[in-house]
Amino acid sequence: MGSMDAISVIRTKRDRGELTPDQIDWVIDAYTRGEVAHEQMSSLAMAIFLNGMTRTEIARWTAAMIASGDRMDFSALPRPTADKHSTGGVGDKITLPLAPLVAACGAAVPQLSGRGLGHTGGTLDKLEAIPGWRAHLSNAEMLDVLRDAGSVICAAGDGLAPADKKLYALRDVTGTVESIPLIASSIMSKKIAEGTGSLVLDVKVGSGAFMKHLDDARELASTMVGLGTDHGVRTVALLTDMSTPLGRTAGNALEVRESVEVLAGGGPADVVELTLALAREMLDAAGLPDADPAKALADGSAMDHWRRMITAQGGDPDAPLPQARETHILPAPSSGVLTTLDAYAVGLAAWRLGAGRARKEDPVQAGAGVEMHAKPGDTVVAGQPLLTLHTDTPEKLPYALEALDGGVVVGAAEAGFHASPVVLERIG
Ligand code: URA
Repeated sequence: MGSMDAISVIRTKRDRGELTPDQIDWVIDAYTRGEVAHEQMSSLAMAIFLNGMTRTEIARWTAAMIASGDRMDFSALPRPTADKHSTGGVGDKITLPLAPLVAACGAAVPQLSGRGLGHTGGTLDKLEAIPGWRAHLSNAEMLDVLRDAGSVICAAGDGLAPADKKLYALRDVTGTVESIPLIASSIMSKKIAEGTGSLVLDVKVGSGAFMKHLDDARELASTMVGLGTDHGVRTVALLTDMSTPLGRTAGNALEVRESVEVLAGGGPADVVELTLALAREMLDAAGLPDADPAKALADGSAMDHWRRMITAQGGDPDAPLPQARETHILPAPSSGVLTTLDAYAVGLAAWRLGAGRARKEDPVQAGAGVEMHAKPGDTVVAGQPLLTLHTDTPEKLPYALEALDGGVVVGAAEAGFHASPVVLERIG
């Protein structure tokens, strides 16, 4: 591979050619080592964004990203491993109740998670709202928590798919995130390197997701299912609605509170429905089809596993959660039916209130976010609270309210309203 150079790789993709396996292996390795410059990879990422990749190229690209770092191995655990990954949404706190729930049903759940960027939230940011909780664990600590609590939710170590870490940060600042080949290879390289035996993908569709249209989400899902299956990971995908936020909260501590309500047997119907649907898929894929996740929510065993997991990672499950310094209520402008509560608008508002970050190194506010008192299809009366905005930085309130402009619509009661189901399709 001595004759490779970045410019010829970029030109191949720029001119709509197919990259050879050698070109792909070389460019990923050389970029990880710093030999290919950021501006060169940025140009290649844009060429891929515009011209796509064949399934053969995507498979090789994914394999090269896996090979850029370590692979983990959970085969010594006495239980089958199951993991889920969401492509990212607003109010998507499902990992929090799901991991301990699936652990309570007999699988081991090694859940390597990320932080939020832009309008989408990140699981680690949410859990860090719990006083004392630690996201960064050594491999040995991770295994200890898994053995003790059945599930662990933590940050991926630096050794796992380092090529993706660099490339994802680059894509984030070069307008090349929303590309099916790049998203599929990014997610699957991490999940395959993590060494899970089975994987359930929650592919979000709608305004609050990277994929706005069902056809694109289908293509992304089937690409990822193909990659997982080729690497010996039992993989299925659910396409799920992200036109409106999940549940009634978007924001870190607010979402932890709602997740605990689900673990206590309550919580919003859509969060419970999706948690159970994903749990059933994970248990099936892990070879535990007879487990009953609804029972584990109702009888408190999922809550027990949650408390063990949080405690094992230094957190206090009984500590009061942080609250924002200021709140602001958005009332219903008229009486009728809430017809639109747009996921992107709410996500952007939560982000501007301080729940998310603009740059990777920025801190997040634990208490900031949006609480939703009504969901699409609910009847509302003029003046009743629709949303409560929470923030430590009230000077940002006007920007948050601007984000909600046009995203919250109350229609005439007789207009009729058809709520979208949470789970739209299954691929696998
Ligand atoms: N999540 C990832 O891990 N990678 C992407 O490219 C998009 C979402």
